[in-house]
Amino acid sequence: MSRTGLWDTHAHLDDSQFDKDRDALCAELAETLEGVINPGVDEESSEFAISLAEKYPFIYAAVGWHPEELRNIPKDYEDKIANWAKHPKVVAIGEIGLDYYWMENEPPAVQKAILLRHLDLCKQLDLPFIFHDREAHGDTLEIFQKEITGIRGVFHCFSGSLEMAKELAKRGFYFGFGGTSTYKNSQKTREVLSWVPRELMLFETDSPYLSPIPFRGKRNNPAYTEYTAKNAALLLGCSMEELAEQTTKNVLTLFKKIPR
Ligand code: NI
Repeated sequence: MSRTGLWDTHAHLDDSQFDKDRDALCAELAETLEGVINPGVDEESSEFAISLAEKYPFIYAAVGWHPEELRNIPKDYEDKIANWAKHPKVVAIGEIGLDYYWMENEPPAVQKAILLRHLDLCKQLDLPFIFHDREAHGDTLEIFQKEITGIRGVFHCFSGSLEMAKELAKRGFYFGFGGTSTYKNSQKTREVLSWVPRELMLFETDSPYLSPIPFRGKRNNPAYTEYTAKNAALLLGCSMEELAEQTTKNVLTLFKKIPR
């Protein structure tokens, strides 16, 4: 087993912020973590994620188009995803979702239409989704309450309310907790973390962004999953080892293509 027994279920190791020391960092991470899931945000990064997964046994890839990257989405994006999905180390579709925060993103109707195509692929290909929801809680909830059934997935860096979490948990969806759950002003996220059924809990970093305390503002890296997990253990009154064991089980249940 790795030093921490933890998985980082969301890290962008393909990001250019890792260009200088990616190989050294990955060598260290192989000892520190059970595994890392690297979602793509567009064509180039999905392919980069796959190449990292080919190079490092502990890295797995997800593929798809992030809601901030839809302007130049190729016409045949569904074929590309279906093709990538044949790779044994592609374990999810993501990072996909809705982002109404940035004005320059495509309008909600366009985002939703592309999202629904991605979610349909999850069903066809029997893969879970990795979901990004920023300032789009209402539409996100509506899609999963009314439009989509029969798929599984994780709401990464969950930032919705406890009420929203309860609705999603009823449908068996997972919740990713990262650095933001350690921030002083994230009371709402900690409320959700305290409530979430342990069998639906996952840890993540969203590296290189959103470093947990005490690294806030610095470059995040998957090894810092440990700080988020320790903080969660403190909040929940249990040991980090217990959470590591449970969340590892959860990773292998949700991301079925990862060999046990
Ligand atoms: Ni991300």
